[in-house]
Amino acid sequence: MDHLRPSSTDNIDRVEKPILAVLAGQRVDPPPVWLMRQAGRYLPEYRAIRSRAAQFLDLCLNPELATEVTLQPIRRFGLDAAILFADILVVPHAMGQPVTFVAGEGPRLDPLVDRHAIDRLDIGETARIRWQPILQTVSRVKAALPPRVALIGFAGAPWTVAAYMVEGGGSRDFLIARRFARAQSAAFAGLIERLVAVTADYLVDQVDAGAEVLQIFDSWAGLLPEDAVGDWVIAPTRALVDAVRQRRPGVPIIGFPRGAGWHYARFLQETGVDAVSLDTAVPVEQARALQSAAPVQGNLDPALLVTGGDPLTRAVRNLCAGLADGPHIVNLGHGVPQETPPDHVASLVQAVRSSAQSRD
Ligand code: CP3
Repeated sequence: MDHLRPSSTDNIDRVEKPILAVLAGQRVDPPPVWLMRQAGRYLPEYRAIRSRAAQFLDLCLNPELATEVTLQPIRRFGLDAAILFADILVVPHAMGQPVTFVAGEGPRLDPLVDRHAIDRLDIGETARIRWQPILQTVSRVKAALPPRVALIGFAGAPWTVAAYMVEGGGSRDFLIARRFARAQSAAFAGLIERLVAVTADYLVDQVDAGAEVLQIFDSWAGLLPEDAVGDWVIAPTRALVDAVRQRRPGVPIIGFPRGAGWHYARFLQETGVDAVSLDTAVPVEQARALQSAAPVQGNLDPALLVTGGDPLTRAVRNLCAGLADGPHIVNLGHGVPQETPPDHVASLVQAVRSSAQSRD
């Protein structure tokens, strides 16, 4: 059995927090576990709080309520990390672009249609003032967490956030945004550049408020071909990682280029992220190859969480065994579905905790 083995360079936090140990390159057995979208509508206690805010963004910008919903899954399931309760679309909101969430339809933004709209976006102090409530949530959560639980801050990657800003909402294929990026590439590059700068400020502020790990969500990386992955996913993520590292070195950064497929290895190598989160489609052999270069996170099928029972337990055991030779954080390949019975999350955590590998 391989237990947590702190090296001499580890600080106290790392010794106490399994996720920080994994992100520092150690193998921890059983592996730590948290889930993307672990707070949300599948939890009755979330729905109770949600009904107290008219708009979803009002909930994100209310430190008292946002702290409560961040902590709910930690209390219920004893997960190894809390993720700040907010949304990737807080950044467009902070830049002065109106954002609303329509029940059952998802986000709506006033779409950016040309270079002038992009030039009018707020950056710098004007944007920073608008996310101050989020930072209060970060410090409140940090103060309330048990010592073994790490606090993850996050932001959307420039490409994914730009896609929502140009498209004006969610989409299956983001064709408007992809066409804009091709047809008005200089204007689109200007948008990406502003997003890199603002998102770096946002992440640095989260670190200063108490975030110990950062995750960058590039949910729509998988829509792009090789050249555009280089221009809009890899280069901006690298610029973002460099900007944050320069100002706050030592905070581990997890990249999640969802759907990146063949580009996962290049993403890891060229962006300089400390770890990668893997979507459901990544085969275990590829995950193991990536794991020789960096810690990996993932990649259970969210549908199994809805199903529960033996298929879930077996998949958890297989995943933990398959990635037991290197640093691994258990997570889903995407967020917790709304239809998930909360008990299934408890079973998942239980299956991970009883998955310790015997290595005699
Ligand atoms: O628990 C956590 O993971 C932390 C909170 C969090 C939310 N959104 C809360 C949320 C995080 C990390 C996100 C990230 C996010 N938001 C992403 C990247 C990850 C991914 O899912 O691909 C994206 C693309 C968004 C944008 C977004 N926010 C959409 C498309 C939607 C509507 C779809 C939906 O599920 O309703 C949201 C709303 C949203 N963000 C909800 C939650 C809990 C549901 C809103 C509600 O309660 O009414």
